[in-house]
Amino acid sequence: MTRLLHYAATVSLEGTFVFWCLIAWPAFHRAQAAQAFQAQLHRRLLALAWTSLLVALVTGGAWLLVIASNMSGMPLAAVLPGGVVGIVLTQTRFGEDWVLRAALVVVLAICLAVQARSRKHAAGWVGLLAAAAFIASLAWAGHGAATEDVPFDAIHLPADILHLLAAGAWLGALLPLVILLAQARRDSDPQAVAVACATTQRFSVLGLSSVGTLLLTGLVNTWFLSGSVPALLGTLYGQLLLLKIALFATMIAVASVNQRQLLPCLTDVATAAPLRLRAVRQLSRNASIEASFGVFVLAIVGIIGILPPGLHTEPRWPLPFRFDLSEIPAPAHAVFDVAAIAFALCLAATVLIAQRRHYRAIGVSIALLVLFGIVSWIALRPGIVRAYPTSFYASSQPYAAPSIARGAPLYAEHCAACHGAEGRGDGPLAGELPIRPADLTEPHLFAHKIGEIYWWVSYGRDSGVMPGFADKLTPDQRWDLINFVLARTAGVLANHAGSQISTTTALPLPDFAFERNGVQNTLSQVLKTGPVLVVLFAKRAPLARLEQLARLQPRLAAAGLHVVAVGLGPSTHNAPPIVEASQDVRVALALFRSPTDGGETELMLDRGANVRARWTASGASGLADAGTLLSYTALVASIPVAAANHAGHAH
Ligand code: HEC
Repeated sequence: MTRLLHYAATVSLEGTFVFWCLIAWPAFHRAQAAQAFQAQLHRRLLALAWTSLLVALVTGGAWLLVIASNMSGMPLAAVLPGGVVGIVLTQTRFGEDWVLRAALVVVLAICLAVQARSRKHAAGWVGLLAAAAFIASLAWAGHGAATEDVPFDAIHLPADILHLLAAGAWLGALLPLVILLAQARRDSDPQAVAVACATTQRFSVLGLSSVGTLLLTGLVNTWFLSGSVPALLGTLYGQLLLLKIALFATMIAVASVNQRQLLPCLTDVATAAPLRLRAVRQLSRNASIEASFGVFVLAIVGIIGILPPGLHTEPRWPLPFRFDLSEIPAPAHAVFDVAAIAFALCLAATVLIAQRRHYRAIGVSIALLVLFGIVSWIALRPGIVRAYPTSFYASSQPYAAPSIARGAPLYAEHCAACHGAEGRGDGPLAGELPIRPADLTEPHLFAHKIGEIYWWVSYGRDSGVMPGFADKLTPDQRWDLINFVLARTAGVLANHAGSQISTTTALPLPDFAFERNGVQNTLSQVLKTGPVLVVLFAKRAPLARLEQLARLQPRLAAAGLHVVAVGLGPSTHNAPPIVEASQDVRVALALFRSPTDGGETELMLDRGANVRARWTASGASGLADAGTLLSYTALVASIPVAAANHAGHAH
């Protein structure tokens, strides 16, 4: 509530000064308004500005106390005597901003006092600048300043400031407009109507430019703060944002009625006086409607301000289906593209040719739209797939060795009875079930979104044969399990990878930590510099091989390929270049070896940690030689990798 009032007062302050400087004065000048009319309006606007300033001051103080109490955990009453306020003011960003805003309040008060005495235009312009700074400084209190990524700040913060300025100019000037129109209606003489007309004209220019700015900056902000369709539909934050956009659209609709119907009626000198007066009355009513919608928008802004942005909560998908482009067969995709282009061309042609015969053009357009709708429905229907509330969840546990090591025993305890110890769907219970348990080592598993696997593990499958585990396992445990199942599938499938580079399926090796020469490192860190060759030794590595690897390493590194060698066997005194790794890491990496590999397995990873080629000590082509590795390095480095793989978090 404090926030809402504070925002409203700030907006109203900016709007009043905007109205004075950019709308009322020029309009009075043009329509030669009567002195009495001007003086009366001036008094009313002054009263509005003083009230707004007072409200801003009181709510600003209250806001400071609330923030100080939140930060210190002290009750509100104890904050002031406790000296916390002083600390907040001097040592936080909010405090710095608050002091600046307090200074601006003083400037604004001086401007208003000068204006009350002499109606000086100069004081109005200074006031406008101060009011603009006053509203712009709110951007620091919003999310604009909280964006951690520095490159975004350069776009996001200015967009936020422009958004606030435009919102303040439009919303805030509405109330003064309502006051002026009401006054003109009461006076009802032709001169007052002329003033109303000139004002409304200027206001509509202001409204138009503000709406344009709001749309553009609003898009930027929506993108930065929610980032995706699921975040927009699936979080409270996103839903409020959509509601705000809907309210905004209604305001634009009302404004466009003013623009297209009432304004021409007013400006047309041929219109009879009673009709013009009626137009003023309707304008004044519509402006009040717009203003009340504006209050709702501000209320939403106030609530949104204290919610975490859409990016930082898992979006609950509200629909029972979602759209998956990858499910659409290529021919249907092509059909849709052709249909879309044909539709756009026909529509443009219809509009261009049939400009005169309005109704026929509308008829043809609707027919085209229906035709296009039918074609796209048929073409895109395979893309509509079942969805679950958790479809767009990201894993809370990174796809890394510790999580997989935690998942392995959970699998043995809860899943192996049906799905089998190796995940092949052949557990001891499998024969008694009405449906065969799924083979969890099929490539098909990677076609599912991890959020959907999470749903099945939590609440079971539709058939009711597979039970849910939401009451037995915590969410983190369920994610550990899923990481284990995914890693095992990736490992089983990677066993089929040959000694040639394959770019088909992405089979990610989990991230893991290791120590080399006393320095801690992780696979993901090394991958940032280029592709990696992971060498896994099942037993104690032969000395000759280690010496060979040690010799090769500098040459490969110069070409951009890094070698990480890990000993999986129990013998601990593995010599360099083998790195030190924990038991968890050995459990996770063992999933990527087959017992038939012999003593050594080599995996060439692209920059996304996906296995792209594989050599084994017992394989027909043997282990990779230096020449092969060098020639593959550039090839593997050039494989494009998705920003987020099954490692989960995309931001
Ligand atoms: C009572 C037996 C049973 C248990 C226990 C069980 N499942 Fe299942 N699971 C099934 C059956 C049967 C299916 C396939 C039938 C269906 O689609 O309804 C299935 C399907 C699945 C699928 C979908 C695979 C796909 O590609 O469609 C996943 C994933 C899965 N199970 C994971 C697990 C995990 C993880 C656990 C352990 C937490 C587990 N299941 C425990 C019986 C079981």
